[in-house]
Amino acid sequence: MSHLLPLSRVAKLINQPRHKLQEVIRSGLLATFDGMVELEELLRMFPEVKWDDDAEFRRVQEIKDKAFAKRVYEGVLPGKDVLAARLTELGDEYAAARTLLLHYGNVMTWLDEKIDEFDEDASPETHHALHSVRAFLLRNLAEMPPDALLAQTTIAQERILKVMSAHVTIQPSGHEFIVEGNDTLLDAALRNGVSLNYGCSNGNCGECKARLVSGEVKKVRAYDYVMKQVDKDAGMILMCAYAPVNDVVLDASVEDANAIPVQRLNAKVKSVEIFNPQMAALHLLTPRSQRLRYLGGQSIDVSIDGGHGRYAIASCPCEDRNIELQIPHRPGDVLTDAVFTALKAGDTVALEGPFGEFVLDEDSPRPVIFLAFGVGFAPIKSLVQHAMSLELAESIDLHWVADEAGLYQDNLCRTWTDALDNFNYLPHAMTDDLDALLKSIVLDYPDLQRFDVYAAGSAEQLELARLHFVGEGLHDARWFAGVTGD
Ligand code: FES
Repeated sequence: MSHLLPLSRVAKLINQPRHKLQEVIRSGLLATFDGMVELEELLRMFPEVKWDDDAEFRRVQEIKDKAFAKRVYEGVLPGKDVLAARLTELGDEYAAARTLLLHYGNVMTWLDEKIDEFDEDASPETHHALHSVRAFLLRNLAEMPPDALLAQTTIAQERILKVMSAHVTIQPSGHEFIVEGNDTLLDAALRNGVSLNYGCSNGNCGECKARLVSGEVKKVRAYDYVMKQVDKDAGMILMCAYAPVNDVVLDASVEDANAIPVQRLNAKVKSVEIFNPQMAALHLLTPRSQRLRYLGGQSIDVSIDGGHGRYAIASCPCEDRNIELQIPHRPGDVLTDAVFTALKAGDTVALEGPFGEFVLDEDSPRPVIFLAFGVGFAPIKSLVQHAMSLELAESIDLHWVADEAGLYQDNLCRTWTDALDNFNYLPHAMTDDLDALLKSIVLDYPDLQRFDVYAAGSAEQLELARLHFVGEGLHDARWFAGVTGD
């Protein structure tokens, strides 16, 4: 009987991002069956993987956590109820495997006795044949196949992963992600860049209802929403209150930018980070009862002390209740003056949004070029983090062209380069000759028709860049632009 593994778990087992695995599958070198990989096939394709050496993986993971401001898990252990349920399931599997083994042992004993029985009156030819069969069986039972130890190690690691985490498939979209630690299904989906439909995120509105198609879930958060009997009968659950016990399939809708409603909420200032006299980051925390729903690359209206403005969100939806806005200083403007001189931790900021359709095409596995002009870095930062959460892009190049505010998060971009083997950061100094700079950038991509390009800056900068990229072979439909800083 073959041992099948879901792709997300295989990616973890071989310590590789999902896009690497997808590349191998697309090239036809690794066969899949309904999105699963056979253990034998995996060992054939990755015989050199050092299953017991995860030091490098942990190092990269730590850098990633730091680079993406993600919460570092508290030991990544699931809650005790979920853990108990997973261990019970593992125990059941062990018991079933052991029972099967005992059964095979009994069959072998029976077979041995039958051979003796037949052998009593057998002709010399039959005696020889029976002897050969017995010798064949004994030899093969005594000798383990050469890759048995590797298979055993792999299965053991996969079982540990199954206790620590669960694999989720969303249908009909086909998104997949892993749920770790104490995360609910919704927490994990957002952390992995999957924009499921939801509202309050704390069990009040019922917006996150989804149908459990297969697998088992457990309630890990209390909720007030009263589920109708008809929904219960249909297998509906609240994704913000349940965690998977084992691998589950859910029927749930993944939203695009237009489907996300405009929300109004007050957020608290966590901190104001002044990068330099021209640029600051405003770190906000939304209320526990009202998380902001948005996609990477979208913008939001901000009101502070009678001042208003629309800003691209620089954080990733995977960052839970944390929102980052990047605010260029415009002296005399009420809002930006407040940010640079008066705003402090604990103050309240009114938000309304999200707006805009400058979002990632989540279904595209193409290599991506991000192009940020000055403060256009804010939405690009959000998109980069979203792209990295999805782990689907073959490669990511980030070009950041400085303006007066400089490359104010240059170190962060360099950290991304250290953390991710498919990420390249290409900073560019401020220039009076943007045309020449763009010309030199596109020259580095002789195969532009393979790429998706996301660019953010002023309308003028974007139009010039579009002409260069499309002129050198980029498909017009693969050019995505977000206007900022006008
Ligand atoms: S998001 Fe409101 S109940 Fe789950």
